[in-house]
Amino acid sequence: MSQFDLTAYAAERREWINSALDLCLPSEDEPPATLSKSIRYSIFCGGKRLRPMLALAGADVVGGDRNLAMPVACAVECIHTFSLIHDDLPAIDNDDLRRGRPTNHKVFGDAIAILAGDALLALSFELIASCAKSLPAGPVLEASRLISKASGTTGMVGGQIDDIGNEGCANVGIAEVESVHRRKTGALLTASLVAGAVLFDPPAESISNLTTYGEYLGLAFQIADDLLDIQGDPSLIGKPVGSDLKHDKATYPKLLGIAESQRRAREAVSTAVAALTSFGSEADPLRALARYTVERRS
Ligand code: IPE
Ligand code: IPE
Ligand code: MG
Ligand code: MG
Ligand code: MG
Repeated sequence: MSQFDLTAYAAERREWINSALDLCLPSEDEPPATLSKSIRYSIFCGGKRLRPMLALAGADVVGGDRNLAMPVACAVECIHTFSLIHDDLPAIDNDDLRRGRPTNHKVFGDAIAILAGDALLALSFELIASCAKSLPAGPVLEASRLISKASGTTGMVGGQIDDIGNEGCANVGIAEVESVHRRKTGALLTASLVAGAVLFDPPAESISNLTTYGEYLGLAFQIADDLLDIQGDPSLIGKPVGSDLKHDKATYPKLLGIAESQRRAREAVSTAVAALTSFGSEADPLRALARYTVERRS
């Protein structure tokens, strides 16, 4: 078992990521100021920054210069925050609290919340393209392709559609719930890590192993999210508990119960960690992040 200090690692990286985000987002008063304020409100009200951390870790684990991956790190946080703003809207999960504060639409109204999400998605691809100033265009395009695919119909948005479609359905099986979790959450987590790595053109085997790690990490992460929706402390998770129950969402605990869901999450973490065997201590942050995924309280 490694002695890796994840708390210190994550705190330092959150600072780097927050500074970089501050520089790449519109300032508070940049016109249209309401849009700029709305974007900054949702980005800077907490957030674990797991996806940008994975992008930087992807660069590190293949021996790349993580500073060159920072625009990709910021981009995946922008896409994630867009997905959260839209996820909370009345038409989707209709939640009032996010990252410990009222949700974006509660403060700025639905129209601004929708447009802030749209703007964050657009900004993310501007950021990714900017990597081509310091890296070869081919790998930058591949990173862009991966993140685009993970965000759209076959990834996050597609998963969100089926998540809504499965609400209140009595006959949803665990294979379908797993598929939704892999798409709505796992795809962007995987793409964050793999895009950070592909910028540096690593061997195909490394890409394949990191992809497997990301997919199982993502599954474990969303199972843990389902469990926190039941057992979490609202003051720690920064969002309401019981949201899934309210909408009769098809979740792991709904289908399998709490103990079996915990077991499946731990099993997914073991599979994720097993995919890293070809890496040495340079992958210790990824091993620690995988364990954190199921132990987390927020
Ligand atoms: C919440 O993601 C939405 C899911 C995909 C489960 P996080 O738990 O990473 O939320 P933040 O970024 O820390 O707020
Ligand atoms: C959302 O899943 C995943 C996204 C793509 C935003 P949830 O709806 O369970 O996420 P939370 O619990 O609201 O953060
Ligand atoms: Mg949702
Ligand atoms: Mg939600
Ligand atoms: Mg949830």
